[in-house]
Order: sequence, then C-alpha cells, then structure tokens
Amino acid sequence: GLTRRYTFNVTMATVTRLCTTKSIPTVNGRFPGPRITVREGDRLVVSVHNNINNNVTFHWHGVRQLRSAWADGPAYITQCPMRPGQSYVYNFRIVGQRGTLWWHAHFSWLRATLHGPLVILPPRGVPYPFPKPYREVPLMLGEWFNADPEAVIKQALQTGGGPNVSDAYTFNGFPGPTYNCSGGGNSTFKLKVKPGRTYMLRLINAALNDELFFAVANHTLTVVQADASYVKPFAATTLVISPGQTMDVLLTAATNPSSTAFAIAVAPYTNTVGTFDNTTATAVLEYTPQRPAALRGLPAPPLPRYNDTGAVTNFSSNFRSLASARYPARVPLSVDRSFFFAVGLGADPCQSPVNGTCQGPNNTRFAASINNVSFVMPKTSLLQAHYQRRVVPLAFNTSVEVVLQDTSIQGAESHPLHLHGYDFHVVGTGFGNYDAANDTAKYNLVDPVQRNTISVPTAGWVAIRFVANNPGVWIMHCHLDVHLSWGLSMAWLVNDGPLPNQKLPPPPSDIPTC
Ligand code: C2O
Repeated sequence: GLTRRYTFNVTMATVTRLCTTKSIPTVNGRFPGPRITVREGDRLVVSVHNNINNNVTFHWHGVRQLRSAWADGPAYITQCPMRPGQSYVYNFRIVGQRGTLWWHAHFSWLRATLHGPLVILPPRGVPYPFPKPYREVPLMLGEWFNADPEAVIKQALQTGGGPNVSDAYTFNGFPGPTYNCSGGGNSTFKLKVKPGRTYMLRLINAALNDELFFAVANHTLTVVQADASYVKPFAATTLVISPGQTMDVLLTAATNPSSTAFAIAVAPYTNTVGTFDNTTATAVLEYTPQRPAALRGLPAPPLPRYNDTGAVTNFSSNFRSLASARYPARVPLSVDRSFFFAVGLGADPCQSPVNGTCQGPNNTRFAASINNVSFVMPKTSLLQAHYQRRVVPLAFNTSVEVVLQDTSIQGAESHPLHLHGYDFHVVGTGFGNYDAANDTAKYNLVDPVQRNTISVPTAGWVAIRFVANNPGVWIMHCHLDVHLSWGLSMAWLVNDGPLPNQKLPPPPSDIPTC
C-alpha cells in the first residue's frame, strides 16, 4: 500500500444555514469536512493542528486500528485531547476493510460540525463483488443546530433534562427546501444523474441524536455494503440508518424518467417519549441533461411513521454478510466469555452529581447506563494510564459474545451501540427479554452481518460476537451523543498477545498528555 497524507487544520469558519450565520469549528474551513480517500492496505497519516478555543480529538469511525490503538481518538480513552494550539499525528494502516467509513471529532459534541467521509477503495485491480457503478457519491446525513451544540449539551448536563433538538436534518451539510429560509439552489443538495446509469451512494449517518429513514421517490435502492463490509445485495425502498452507521447503496437512474427531478428524503425513527424534530428533510435527484428542475414541491417519497418499529425490523432483517470464498464470514463458532449488558435510559441514583446537585425527577438525574453503571469520563486517558474502572479486561484472542438488552425505564428506545477497534458479527436479535436457552439455538452463525454499530432494538436485544485480537483500550458506546454524554459507555482492555506482532507498540512521542 501507499502512504496517504492529509493535514487537518481545525479552525473556526463562518457558515450560513437556515438564515443563521455563525462561526463553527471546521476542518480546513470546510463544512462538512474534507473527504479522505485511501485504498485497502494503505497507510493513512493525518496531521491535526488544533486552532480552536476548545479541546479536540479525531476518531476514524470503523477503522480497525490493528495494533494502532493510539490513533483511535476517543478523548480520555486512547489519548488526552489536543488542547488549543496543540497538534497530533494520527498514523495507521487500513487492513482488511473496504467501503465507506467516516471520521469525526470525539470530544464532547464537536462532531456536530467536525466530520467527513473516509472512503476505502479495494486494492488496485480488485473489483467490487457487484457491477462497477458509473459514479460514487458520498452523502452525509447530519443535523444542523442554530445554537452552539456545545452550549446545548452543557445546558442539558447542567439541568439534568434532555437537550434541545437540532433545527434541521442535512444532506452533505445542506438542509434543503423543506425548511423556511433554505430555498435557494445552493442550500439544497442535488444528485445529478444520467438516464440509465447506476450510482453508488455512500451514505453516512452523522446526525448527533437521530436514527433516520432514507428514501428516494420512485427509485429502489440496492444495499451492497454496511460499515465497510460487503453484504448480500438486497433491494429496499426505504433504508434505516443509525448514527455512526454507513451504507453503500446502488441507485439506477430510469431510462425514461417520469419527471426531471425526484425528492430524496430523510425523517427520524424514534420511540423517544418527548420532543424530537419530526421534519422530513429533502434533497433532489435531478436528471441531466434536461433543464434544471424545480427544487420545491417535489412529492416526497412515502416514509414510515416516526415510531414504526416494524418497518425498521423488516429492513434490518435483510442484512447478511457475503460469506463468499473471497470474503468469508469468520464468525466465531464457540465463545470463551459471554457478557450480558443491560443498556438503557433510567434514573441515575446520583452517584455522579452534575455541579454537585441532582436535578432529575425524585432526586435523580436522567442518565444512560450499561448494567446500571453510568460511565464517567476519567480525567486521564485510559490507554495511557491503564485505568481499570468500568473497563473489562480481556485476554488476547478471547472469543467474546455480548448480549445487549434494552431495558429503558422511561419509555423504550433503541440504542445504536458502537464498538471501537473491531467489526463484530451480529448473530442474533429479538424483542422482549433475551432467553439464552431458546435464542441461542436460532443464531445465524453462517452469514451474519459484520458491523461496527448496531441498533439494540427498542424493548429487545441483540447478540454480537468478536475475537479480541487487537490489543488496546476500546470504548463501546451508544452513538446517540446525548446518551454517550449521559454515560451509556464502557470500555474493553484487550491485553497483548505473546507474539511480537500481537503487542501494542508504545505510544507515539507526540501524543497529547492530560
Ligand atoms: Cu463514531 Cu466512538 O464513535
């Protein structure tokens, strides 16, 4: 592989969305941030300079970071943050992965504006296991806050209540014509297509707090890849994509389209009791070389109701790994250690008061937890300090099964759980309480999908397996940022193996200290 070098200057830049002009943290003045393109097998070297008045770190979401845990990026887990004026070089190889991933800040809620696509092409000369698309288009779904997202989470933590919701969903940073004041052509994302051609959308859900439905009016999508692993292709009219997840889908433009333009739409999927943004945001699929189409008034594709868990389950049940000779499934058939984690929202008995007080209901604080323990971010980096609290140690090469059971007290809600440092196999899922005797027998050990982020279904469970063959400290957390802030997080400490190539090398000399 080659070495690909990028420079990230984290700077404030002025942008206007929804009639609001404000200064936001950006990478190189761009929002969303620059696209990184590498090939499988390449080394990626990203020199980051922090020029904003806040701490920052960067995470390469979904990159396995084999023996390069120091480059993983979550603040206080694998590194201390870069303080204003500091720099750090993230240096790692892309091994055994290809498809769409992304990068984002991993400190507080800075990822709201600090994020971008990370495209991993197959090694030169290796084809896709599906016909080569005419064009490939990264499409980041996000959220726009008129307020400063840092102020939003700070206020939520201080009051113990839920944070204010965002003001718009976005497509590559653009809210589109659904929202007042966003009418003009340059506030709408347009996907221009030629009749009869096939396009690959590299979808990324970069929203802070919303699982999203996604559809294109009058067009069927074929899912070919999820979280940088190939899947058996399947067709769908509506996708469901959780924060953190990525999905590559093929869209074939009609040869005789019934219109010059069609709406692309997202809307939230949520069971949250309380407030959320229930707007359907739109972008435009435009056929060329016809004359430019109207942006407004395009009929939106039908989307499921915001709480349609049945639609979500139907969609999720389609995912199967390719499990071919070239891309075998490699799912562990036996397990050395099993864990059962209850994940959910509930009342924190105030082990961790905020600003010295508990302001939630009945002298509690609204909290999110794994096994009733809310993760409190330590003040030093776990990997640097070998800090052990709420960290589960694993011997090298342990075959691990984790059953994640959703047990929310205050209204069921699904949780997109993300594991750093690994892709895991999703061997089973269901509703109600996990029942080992019956549910284990129904596991898919043949072609389970491989992912780095999986939604634990509302009032249900999911079982995942991975082999702990990558030494380091790896955070596992809910990718709804508000739940991460509330403590829905834990970490694994995977110890070195006996062989030299099974050990984590010492930290780079420029790693920031706390
Ligand atoms: Cu995409 Cu720990 O995050």
